[in-house]
Amino acid sequence: MEFLDKGLSDYSDRHTKPENDLLSRINRETHLKVMRPRMLSGHLQGRLLSMLSSMLRPRRILEIGTYTGYSALCLAEGLTDDGKLITLDVNEELEDRVRGYFAESAYASKIDFIINDAARVISTLNEKFDLVFIDADKENYAKYYDLVFDKVIPGGIILADNVLWSGKVLDTKPDKDTKAILDFNKKIQDDKRVENVLLPVRDGIMMIRKLSL
Ligand SMILES: C[S@@+](CC[C@H](N)C(=O)[O-])C[C@H]1O[C@@H](n2cnc3c(N)ncnc32)[C@H](O)[C@@H]1O
Repeated sequence: MEFLDKGLSDYSDRHTKPENDLLSRINRETHLKVMRPRMLSGHLQGRLLSMLSSMLRPRRILEIGTYTGYSALCLAEGLTDDGKLITLDVNEELEDRVRGYFAESAYASKIDFIINDAARVISTLNEKFDLVFIDADKENYAKYYDLVFDKVIPGGIILADNVLWSGKVLDTKPDKDTKAILDFNKKIQDDKRVENVLLPVRDGIMMIRKLSL
């Protein structure tokens, strides 16, 4: 389901800075050669992630769900000079492709790409994160949020993708993944430790700021 009329969506794309050559190639090759290319953040969302990261200037970013590396490279654009982005994915089949893209980028030395189950890795991370992007299996969003919460600095930002789930959040008989997203959105809305905005961009991004309590 597209939330925005095609004409307005195209207009928004045309009035958003273009992707650099590497991102444009990752976008194209993902659509040509990789299964489920709709998972890629894409031009407009990618520029939004880059813009948010550049505003925050994070020292530590955690991304849960690398896929072909597109959003990782967008988020890395805002890192401080001594910054690092850790990105996690279980899919070994894409590893060589993604490592190749990261190696070609300006952020090769700043990206730590770990192939493993995210829940296992997060608990072992001894870092404090300024910015977290949750974009992996929907049924575990709430678990990832709980695992990462104490590792986020006060004032830090957590972004969660696909929280409108192609509009299925309005279904009267939600399926398993939709139920997980509904539970996640309610959990955030009820969490007194944060403030949040659900941005209806692309498939919906929940933007969460951890309060300094
Ligand atoms: C929507 S895609 C990520 C898209 C990417 N962030 C982007 O915007 O271009 C979701 C990814 O989560 C990964 N994933 C699914 N379950 C996972 C798990 N338990 N641990 C880590 N990654 C997982 C999938 O392999 C897939 O590549």
